[in-house]
Amino acid sequence: MRRPVARFAGFGRGIPPKVLTNHEFAAMGLDTSHEWIVERTGIVERHIAAEHETTCSMAADASCTAMHRAGVTAGEIDVIVLSTATPDRLLPATAVDLQAAIGAHRAAAFDISAACSGWLYGLTVAEGLIMTGTAETALVVGSEKMSAIVDWTDRSTCVLFGDGAGAAVLRPSTDERGILSSYMRSDGRLANLLYRPQGGATIPMSEEVLRERGHLVKMAGREVFKSAVLCMAESVDRALDAAKVTADEIDLLVPHQANIRIIEATAKHAGIPMEKVFVNIDRYGNTSSASIPISLDEVTERGIVGEGSLVLIAAFGAGLTWGSMVVRL
Ligand code: ACO
Repeated sequence: MRRPVARFAGFGRGIPPKVLTNHEFAAMGLDTSHEWIVERTGIVERHIAAEHETTCSMAADASCTAMHRAGVTAGEIDVIVLSTATPDRLLPATAVDLQAAIGAHRAAAFDISAACSGWLYGLTVAEGLIMTGTAETALVVGSEKMSAIVDWTDRSTCVLFGDGAGAAVLRPSTDERGILSSYMRSDGRLANLLYRPQGGATIPMSEEVLRERGHLVKMAGREVFKSAVLCMAESVDRALDAAKVTADEIDLLVPHQANIRIIEATAKHAGIPMEKVFVNIDRYGNTSSASIPISLDEVTERGIVGEGSLVLIAAFGAGLTWGSMVVRL
């Protein structure tokens, strides 16, 4: 087993208080039902940000808790890596707004765009910066205001997503605790399975784009589902192999929360019983790159895992992007 260079020092989450239940979609005039959503996805409710709650403000809530739990001050943060598919503005990065909000004035701050896999990608980047000595204390955040980019008239996507943020402070490892393996992949040939076709630099925002809803999320759900199952299976195998640990040794699998059926398939493939799989999709829906750090904050806060536990993380998202990690907390 490799000697880790970076370990988690603290987690935090920032969740908007407003809850939107499945039942409320029908009241909004959408042709769907609580039963369909639960059966096909496992989602019961999700949190939705108010107008004044932003990707930055949720990230700041998560970051402050993570820094507090890690026992570090904002002034000690060397780098902020913020993963988001919903930046508050297109320029500059939301990470610099977060830097200003929390007062991490010494830090370098930048965003990562890798959709739901973004937090895992961000961790790997931060680990590398710690490995080279470029940074000692890194803040890695996933924050998403998915409610701002979903098409609320499209029942095949709008029921799936929720808002929220999760964060972790990463510090140099001094013992056997930390990131033991990291595996990341992407396949740009499948980019158009889950995307926002318009509103970027190629087809800038216009009245027509707004009218046609071309700036909102489009998804080929069934194809994404099939790829997700294959990619998550591949990546957990690779991460376990690279860490030289077996599935039996894993205390908890923390998968990206996109669909309970994808989670169950991943666990089955890895040979990990569902009692050892963390699921909170019922309460949050798919919060994209925030889902894994939110989950890690919940499982450590509740004592489901603790110092020394072996955790397998698996992510999957638009791009397509995917990846997995084995970490000792
Ligand atoms: N309520 C009721 N019916 C619906 C709804 C809804 N909310 N949404 C779709 N349907 C209908 C469809 O129109 C279709 O009807 P039809 O048979 O008359 O055409 C029927 O239900 C079945 O649709 P499918 O798409 O085949 O349903 P499926 O079982 O595949 O479930 C789902 C759809 C939940 C989207 C699933 O494909 C899925 O989870 N895909 C992966 C999505 C995902 O993981 N995305 C995110 C990953 S990346 C990221 O996190 C950014």
